[in-house]
Amino acid sequence: METLPIYGGVLKRVLSGIQPSGDLHLGNYFGMMSRMITYQEKHDLFCFIVNYHALTTVKDKELLEKNTIQAAIDFFALGLNPEKSTFWIQSDVPQVCESTWLLSNVTNVGMLERATSYKDKLSKGISANVGLYSYPILMASDILLFGGEMVPVGKDQKQHIEMTRDIAEKFNQQYGDVFVIPDSDIDKRSHLIPGIDGQKMSKSYNNTIPIFGDEKKIRKRFMSIVTDSADIDEPKDINTPIFELYSLFINENEQKELKNRFLQPGLRYGDLKNEFFECFWEFFRPYRDKRDYLMNHKDYVFSSLEQGAKKASVVANDFLFKAKSAMGLIYRD
Ligand code: TRP
Repeated sequence: METLPIYGGVLKRVLSGIQPSGDLHLGNYFGMMSRMITYQEKHDLFCFIVNYHALTTVKDKELLEKNTIQAAIDFFALGLNPEKSTFWIQSDVPQVCESTWLLSNVTNVGMLERATSYKDKLSKGISANVGLYSYPILMASDILLFGGEMVPVGKDQKQHIEMTRDIAEKFNQQYGDVFVIPDSDIDKRSHLIPGIDGQKMSKSYNNTIPIFGDEKKIRKRFMSIVTDSADIDEPKDINTPIFELYSLFINENEQKELKNRFLQPGLRYGDLKNEFFECFWEFFRPYRDKRDYLMNHKDYVFSSLEQGAKKASVVANDFLFKAKSAMGLIYRD
């Protein structure tokens, strides 16, 4: 049976779920994906596309299929290595639904009612279905069924991780130590990535810069990044989205140089935006090439995902068996 490969407490099982939400943007990349891809070098990375969770909001079959596979391709293109990590599509390991039921029986209704993401949706007038209501139990199941120890998420998911800990503690108290209590790993930088208007970059604010897509359209987005309205011969403000976004792509020395250019007269924002676009376009060039390649070699993508689901199932089956035994569901001798 699979045991957690923790060597001297250094190697951790890092686990996270990614929404299949269509066009990836710089906020996704710098907030989350690049961090996950780095983790695969030093940790035991488990990562999956959460298409079961997406059912709570996406009702269009074709769109869900398309976004699921696109999310997987984009992740591979950006450097996720199926040899170094375990990467799968959530619904390919359906044991997670069975364990959601088990965990439902140690989950307090009051706690679900206090979930801010659920309350937010209600307050927007969305009529809630049970899927939306029990979303946090499925998420707890995602984490607990694979022994996730460290869960990199955005700040908005912190409460979900706390709920997961609560559910795991209740289960362990009631039935004995089966589940690992996970910690959240929240990157301070992730909510500092501004969109082209200076608010947090988010699809719902329509202020994103997509990573992949039509060159002309993306260049246009760069041209509409908000700047101050200083004249050419005046110093420029560095607390603007253009400065912060450009800084993500350059090293410390280059950042100092950029700052100097901002503070001295003579900088033209039009030129700077073009220069920044070129830098961005070059940065993602190898990833774009890899993505084009993968789009034409989907067999590789599907077989990698299948392998990932197999590896994940081994771990899931182990935890599921232990949980069912502890609860009295394995009745044979
Ligand atoms: N709820 C998370 C989000 O919206 C996605 C998610 C589902 C997740 N299951 C998870 C994240 C398990 C971390 C671990 O971003």
